[in-house]
Amino acid sequence: MARRKKIYEGKAKTLYEGPEPGTIVQYFKDDATAFNAEKRAVIEGKGVLNNLLSEYFMTGLNNIGVPTHFLKRLNMREQLVRSCEIIPLEVVVRNYAAGSMSKRLGVEEGMQLPRPIIEYYYKDDALGDPLVTEEHIAAFGWASQQDMDDILSLALRVNDFLSGVMFGVGIKLVDFKIEIGRVYEGDFQRLVVADEISPDSCRLWDIETGQKLDKDVFRRDLGSLTDAYTEVARRLGVMPKTSTPIGKPTLIN
Ligand code: C5P
Repeated sequence: MARRKKIYEGKAKTLYEGPEPGTIVQYFKDDATAFNAEKRAVIEGKGVLNNLLSEYFMTGLNNIGVPTHFLKRLNMREQLVRSCEIIPLEVVVRNYAAGSMSKRLGVEEGMQLPRPIIEYYYKDDALGDPLVTEEHIAAFGWASQQDMDDILSLALRVNDFLSGVMFGVGIKLVDFKIEIGRVYEGDFQRLVVADEISPDSCRLWDIETGQKLDKDVFRRDLGSLTDAYTEVARRLGVMPKTSTPIGKPTLIN
């Protein structure tokens, strides 16, 4: 069998050339990293859960007319996506204060924000993904004003969708990060939600107990990351299919 061509290997995913021009196979690894890869571990099953969860969120977004790069899931660890040019920004939407925002501004984690706050980080591992303003984005030409308008609208629509879905299963969407890609169609370009949406890129807290069900479990050593992600998948009804267990033999009189 011919070897497929690896396009890129990231911290949590590997990208391969897809079967058709303009497509890419996204493979979800079990590797977990935090603090710009200073902390690393292999967490068995994480890739499978994130593949299923990202499929669930991206399909939901496609269904309500928010364009994403997602085409279809291929198997337990891989999905087919449209190839796109990634805008070098991490777009973060926050509904409650947490993480780097709490640290930077000295606000208590969990404080509800009066409205969603959008932040942009320049994607550059060597620089540690610094926070940037729209002025930087325009001055360095990372995105046009039209792109920024579209990115803001996509980010808020994703926030409304994800907040609603998570609320429905008793989970608070504290914040999340998305990446945006450009897809070219003839003379036109369109922006789509790209990369992945999973508990690796969101903060998810149980509404009742406040229990963390996201990557902070790994970042802050709070227990089993697989258990946390499995709980999110279970509530959303997207658990990996396991073969039907064969029961113990029963005596028939
Ligand atoms: O660390 P910080 O508070 O800025 O993260 C905000 C949100 O963005 C969190 O949900 C976090 O998981 C996500 N994030 C991410 N990838 C990064 C940085 C943050 O998915 N490189």
